[in-house]
Amino acid sequence: MRTRYCGEITLIDINTIITICGWINKIRILKKIIFIEVQDTTGTIQVFFNKENNTYLSSILHLRHGFCVQIQGLVTIKKSCNLLKNTSKKKIIEIIGFSCFIFNKTLPIPLDYTKKNKEDIRFKFRYLDLRRNIMFQNIKKRSEITTIIRQFFIKNKFLEIETPILTKSTPEGASDYLVNSRLYPGKYYALPQSPQLFKQLLMISGIDRYYQIAKCFRDEDLRSDRQPEFTQIDIEIAFLRKHHIQKLINNLIQKLWLSIKKTKLKKIKKMSYCDSLSIYGTDKPDLRNPIKFISLDYFFKDNLKYFFPWLLKNNSNRIISIRVPNGTNLISEKKIKIYKKFFKKKKLHQFMYTKIINKESYNIHMDSYLKKKISNTQIYNIFSQNIIHNGDIFFIVAEETNLANKILSELRLKIGIDFKITDLKKVCPIWITNFPLFKKDKNENLKSMHHPFTSPKNDARNITFTDPCKILSSAFDLVINGCEIGGGSRRIHSYELQTKIFDILQIDKIKQKKEFGFFLNALQYGAPPHVGLALGLDRLAMLLTDSKTISDVIAFPKTTSATCLMTGAPC
Ligand code: AMO
Repeated sequence: MRTRYCGEITLIDINTIITICGWINKIRILKKIIFIEVQDTTGTIQVFFNKENNTYLSSILHLRHGFCVQIQGLVTIKKSCNLLKNTSKKKIIEIIGFSCFIFNKTLPIPLDYTKKNKEDIRFKFRYLDLRRNIMFQNIKKRSEITTIIRQFFIKNKFLEIETPILTKSTPEGASDYLVNSRLYPGKYYALPQSPQLFKQLLMISGIDRYYQIAKCFRDEDLRSDRQPEFTQIDIEIAFLRKHHIQKLINNLIQKLWLSIKKTKLKKIKKMSYCDSLSIYGTDKPDLRNPIKFISLDYFFKDNLKYFFPWLLKNNSNRIISIRVPNGTNLISEKKIKIYKKFFKKKKLHQFMYTKIINKESYNIHMDSYLKKKISNTQIYNIFSQNIIHNGDIFFIVAEETNLANKILSELRLKIGIDFKITDLKKVCPIWITNFPLFKKDKNENLKSMHHPFTSPKNDARNITFTDPCKILSSAFDLVINGCEIGGGSRRIHSYELQTKIFDILQIDKIKQKKEFGFFLNALQYGAPPHVGLALGLDRLAMLLTDSKTISDVIAFPKTTSATCLMTGAPC
């Protein structure tokens, strides 16, 4: 039907008769001529028709935005353009239209392609939203990304193997989506939260290197980087050490950024979970922001009752600060009030800050709470341990450890973005390692920090479990620009250790057999040592397309309340 794509017509095509197919983007009807812009998946091109002696005039005059058409014409250079002067080839080429055939008319398009549209309209008319060039480019890039990934794993001798979708629960921390069984009323299949157990079984089968671009399903609270169904690049390798798989993924990430973004990344560094919490208050640090936490515990620890009495009721507290260079000029009192209001809602006791107006004359301004408690010289002495400059603002948080980390890390991110301290052009990947194997939930029950198939860090045979929370795991997460892109670990390949971990997690023997019996059995048939990891494809594509949410790189996403506005699912 077509001889050329709109976006691919070049100067070589000048004076050639071509046929294009696509949708009408813009129409301008003048006295003697009609301009239209036609769009297809590759871009747009301008076509003009003379009104005089035109056999197609009546159908051309009927054209509206969104009509699906076929146009034949002659490629030419726009009259007003000087070939030598103009730089953009696209802008100087146009088509003198000969014929115009309308394949299909349209109802009025409910989206305005020249403006930002509301998300619910975009989701409802997703097929029209995908016609937008930016969305098309995202989907195209995602396809390029998966091609690069497939080529990479094929080259590294991996086998692509599909694992079941109708299966049994895989614990990854979310609730399962269940599918009713017609043949066994009252019984259900669970959709996989990840292919975790199947890929480990494949290692026992002797499949040395497995990968899959796998659909996963998790019923959990959604946000901009979480969808109820999403895609993992899932891999598992037998007889390999942890650092080898990290090296492999380093190469993949470098390849992706080089191919898609033309950016050369350095080797990805590692940081322990402990350091990450201590310096950034989170295990997903955005290292594009140079601000680090300053610990002030030492200065206040002997006099908590006087300075921060609300801390006395907690077992573990942190008194921490961040320094914003030139903050007195950057951050207005109004903005400080907005931050204060925002963080008070998050149960912060006191929003404290101090401005270094002039350090030489001890001219220091403090918020009203600190002013009551501490002198200018004391503040100066505390912060002069760091490099302080006139104009600095120090924000201070004194709270229970988790709350303190949460609040100051959020403030660090907000300030980084609000005052352009975060360098958005940078790409900052980091491996977070040495996670604890277990964590306690809000009811003080032990839970796996990752999943229960993760091996403890050191020689697991001799491990004692007297204080489970102190045991480190072999897990590692890949974080890029503050976004968790992937996670993996060395796996438990011993039946004894696996049952021991289930025991510690207080999964009783009956439940162990019922839920994981098939897997525990398999572990007793010569399971090899193995490592593995999964990367979130949607999140990778989000970063590689500079999108703000993963829904912009998913053709048919769900809303944050897990509904599909287009089809009406769930129903
Ligand atoms: P984990 O649960 O860390 O590990 O998931 C791996 C990666 O998948 C992505 N991801 C998501 N992306 C979009 N929406 C979601 N709801 C969502 N949940 C997770 C993240 C995350 O880092 N089986 C293990 C991996 C392994 O040990 O091999 C697992 O699934 O980018």
